[in-house]
Amino acid sequence: MNTTTSAPGGTREVTEEEIAAEWRERARRTGLRRVMRSSQPDSLNAGVTEQTRAVVAQQLTLVADRLGRRPRHVWEIGCGIGRLTPTIAAHAERVHAIDMTPAMLDQARVTCRHLPAVEFERVRADRMRPPLERYDAAVCVWVLMHVLGESRLLDTCRVIAESTRHLTLIEYEHARVPVSKWSRLRTLDDYVRLLPGAEVVDERVVDYGGDRSFAALIAIGGQDAR
Ligand SMILES: C[S@@+](CC[C@H](N)C(=O)[O-])C[C@H]1O[C@@H](n2cnc3c(N)ncnc32)[C@H](O)[C@@H]1O
Repeated sequence: MNTTTSAPGGTREVTEEEIAAEWRERARRTGLRRVMRSSQPDSLNAGVTEQTRAVVAQQLTLVADRLGRRPRHVWEIGCGIGRLTPTIAAHAERVHAIDMTPAMLDQARVTCRHLPAVEFERVRADRMRPPLERYDAAVCVWVLMHVLGESRLLDTCRVIAESTRHLTLIEYEHARVPVSKWSRLRTLDDYVRLLPGAEVVDERVVDYGGDRSFAALIAIGGQDAR
């Protein structure tokens, strides 16, 4: 399927296969540059990663407060190289981490080899079917901005809303350096509109060298979220 997106210099056609190929290519980089901007210094990437881990930990602690217990099963959508997976695992009994890029998953398995409660699976987030259970929480960081087609994003958000009681969603909303043709900037409100039954219960900002991401904890399904 072709997805049209605007990029500096004009409108270009980007296919879903091209996006998948770009991620396979990015997986050949080293370190955090595989999942962060390669133009940024390693020290900034390391600092923002620490900040992001802290936000994810704080929001999963809020989920535990809301549930009155530790989250049992947490879903990580687009885990990349496992940059955040150990943080998630520290706040959950079990983690199901998915990504579409095999080399990213290979690295994530290495990163988490000491964590038997983490299960990895190769899945396209924009082709998911609802699982048989509902997760207590999901964590999705800098992934949905790469789902360019609006109807594909709508379907993806519907499945997410059916599949989890809480969602930590971190996505760019402002970019100092224009985002590439592989990404699309959207606001938190744009995403909330696509998630049936969503209510923002915590909102923070992650600053990445002038690029701003919202970091929202979203409860889904009202009383059922507890
Ligand atoms: C910017 S990286 C972020 C990785 C991780 N969430 C983190 O914060 O370190 C984006 C990741 O999402 C994955 N990804 C992009 N689109 C995807 C899709 N439609 N389904 C599953 N994974 C996807 C890529 O393979 C890549 O590993």
